[in-house]
Amino acid sequence: MKKFVLRAVAILLLLNLIFPLAACGGAEDDVTTIRIGVALYKQDDTFISLVSQELEKYAMEKEAELGIKINLYISDGNGSQSAQNEQIDRFLDRGYDIICVNVVDRTAAAVLIDKAQNAEVPIIFFNREPVYEDMMRWHNVYYVGSDGAGSGVLQGQIILNAIENGTVIDRNGDGVLQYVMLEGEPGHQDALLRTENSVRVLTASGIAVEKLAGDSANWQRGQALEKMRTWLRDMGESIELVIANNDDMALGAIDACTELEMAVEDMPFIVGVDATPPALIALQDGTLKGTVLNDAEGQAHAMINLSCALAFDEPISAAVELVDGNYIWLPYVTVTLDNIEDFLEEE
Ligand code: BGC
Repeated sequence: MKKFVLRAVAILLLLNLIFPLAACGGAEDDVTTIRIGVALYKQDDTFISLVSQELEKYAMEKEAELGIKINLYISDGNGSQSAQNEQIDRFLDRGYDIICVNVVDRTAAAVLIDKAQNAEVPIIFFNREPVYEDMMRWHNVYYVGSDGAGSGVLQGQIILNAIENGTVIDRNGDGVLQYVMLEGEPGHQDALLRTENSVRVLTASGIAVEKLAGDSANWQRGQALEKMRTWLRDMGESIELVIANNDDMALGAIDACTELEMAVEDMPFIVGVDATPPALIALQDGTLKGTVLNDAEGQAHAMINLSCALAFDEPISAAVELVDGNYIWLPYVTVTLDNIEDFLEEE
């Protein structure tokens, strides 16, 4: 028995020696602490704030699981690339172990990658994807996100399924779906891919469509409300379908309809992406017809798991599923009234 206890103590001491050394390149003061700098493009973006809340929550769970300390330093770029560059310089100056970047301007990624490489600090981009050439600049660059094209396809399928199930979207019966498109930020991969693919799915299935209007509302509910207000004033009931690149903009379109005291059954068919909590409420009250889960939780977990593997120098493939070397993709899921219960339970 005594022998066993001694051996257990020896193993513990050995583990204690190995882990701290492997843990945090350069963080000699507190070797069992991982320090992660997280730079958000804009904290008040609804989807990004969900990712950020989940990062904090999951980091605490991981601390308990691994018996370590994970310090998250979250900064808000507030839509300014130069502000974000300064925040990342500070993260690197302070010797943080991992940098996670939700880059403001995707074309600025190369500069940030070079900074991280010079400091030898792994860099994980998320939600706003650098171009492939930039991703290939260094082996310690990663991207965590969801494939924008896929969400566009699922949005299109929500519309197709509704038609197949007898929902009349073509209210004037002219055989053509008159639609408006609320686009996210210009230059954001998800905005471009969702806009293109949602409509492509419809036309590929033989549905005739006519675009009455389309514009960027920069992912924002308030801007979408203004666009939709104008479109409703100019085109009124001829708008049969609203395709929004995200839920916040879909909710803005609903706000414009509500302002006019439109009954739910008189509203156009409105779809979004993200499955945010307010969008799930709109689904339940029938104003939003469908959305696509953009997995904020899955993305946050992948970032923390990857950060831990990198910090502890453990095999990355055991922590996350890597595709093409450096990409971690989280799947999208269609959410309609048919399966909403699954998503409410997860709240
Ligand atoms: C989300 C949007 C969000 C944007 C921010 C997109 O993937 O669907 O809701 O505003 O990312 O970059």
